Amino acid sequence: MAVEATAHKPDTTIDVALKIWRSSSATGERELKLYEFEAPEWVTLLDCLDIVKDRMDGSLAYRKSCRMMICGSCGMRMDGAAVLACKTRMYDIARSGHVPVVSAMGNLPIVKDLVVDMEPFWAKFKAMKPYLQPGYDQPEDGREHVISQERMNVIHKESLCINCGCCVSECNAWDAEPEFLGPQALAKGMRFVGDPRDAAKVERLDEYSGQHGIWECTRCYFCNERCPKGVDPRDAIAKLGAEAMKEGIDKDMGAKHANWFVTSAKTTGWLREIELLPKTQGVVSSIKEMKFAMGLLKHGKVPPPFPPHVAEGVKESRALYDLVKEQDRQGALGIVQGEHALGRLEHAHEVDEEEGAS
Ligand code: SF4
Ligand code: SF4
Ligand code: FES
Repeated sequence: MAVEATAHKPDTTIDVALKIWRSSSATGERELKLYEFEAPEWVTLLDCLDIVKDRMDGSLAYRKSCRMMICGSCGMRMDGAAVLACKTRMYDIARSGHVPVVSAMGNLPIVKDLVVDMEPFWAKFKAMKPYLQPGYDQPEDGREHVISQERMNVIHKESLCINCGCCVSECNAWDAEPEFLGPQALAKGMRFVGDPRDAAKVERLDEYSGQHGIWECTRCYFCNERCPKGVDPRDAIAKLGAEAMKEGIDKDMGAKHANWFVTSAKTTGWLREIELLPKTQGVVSSIKEMKFAMGLLKHGKVPPPFPPHVAEGVKESRALYDLVKEQDRQGALGIVQGEHALGRLEHAHEVDEEEGAS
């Protein structure tokens, strides 16, 4: 019987245009270069860089390895925001006619083109002592460490980090203060603080709460936004802060600030801002700011401190405080529980919308 030959169908192609910031390793001189080529419709940004390097300019430098979002090598910026090149599909971008600008990650020194020096990143990673302390405690023969799902939930997201540096690239606290430990290192720290097998939790929290640690984060949330693996490093930093305060490590002004939020909400049901400064910065600092505070008071920007205003729903606020204490939810567990509750609300909202639409 004659077999009908099936004609090979070529992939549908797209026209890609890219601008790449090239940078000389010898002089540091930079130049924005345009590359235009035809590519299969399934290409990622990394595939496009391979095409440029293979067919147009072999001197283009970038890092890659796994091509499947695992190794963390291909972090770079597209249109000013950090991406993993192997995760970034080009189809919609190319079809829209947009010409993206590709550049090296931010906050790390450029070595050449899209390659950055990761040394400052790894130095902070190492400073977190990213291993179990005092060492892995072997369970009895044939046994395994059994850890509850609830405990694992606390470090589930932190364990997904692939050390790509996308969060660091966008961190404005790091930009302002290069000594800041940064989102990746702190997320790694939380991965060990929350591990029930680690015996150095308090020492770690004390260390991470020092200068350039937890409380130096500006809470801009760019790290959450740019992380390609859903680690949410800002949430990890919030967990570290909550754990530090639970352990009574609250020397830093940021911790005192957070403590005052809790006390204020518990006692009066709202935030007594006028007392925020003396409670966090101390009396001497507050006296220096007195003129400013009086100005705010005069213009009705803050209510008078006496008699203290007590919110109508203060009982609910106090009950909530007692519940959190009673259930021991004031550390990282509380944050995870909050995340899950929000997730459930969002899910219920989506289901409602779908049911309403059908
Ligand atoms: S939230 Fe904090 S750690 Fe994350 S990018 Fe902003 S400043 Fe950096
Ligand atoms: S936290 Fe996310 S963005 Fe940061 S290094 Fe890990 S995987 Fe990359
Ligand atoms: S090449 Fe490994 S994460 Fe992109």
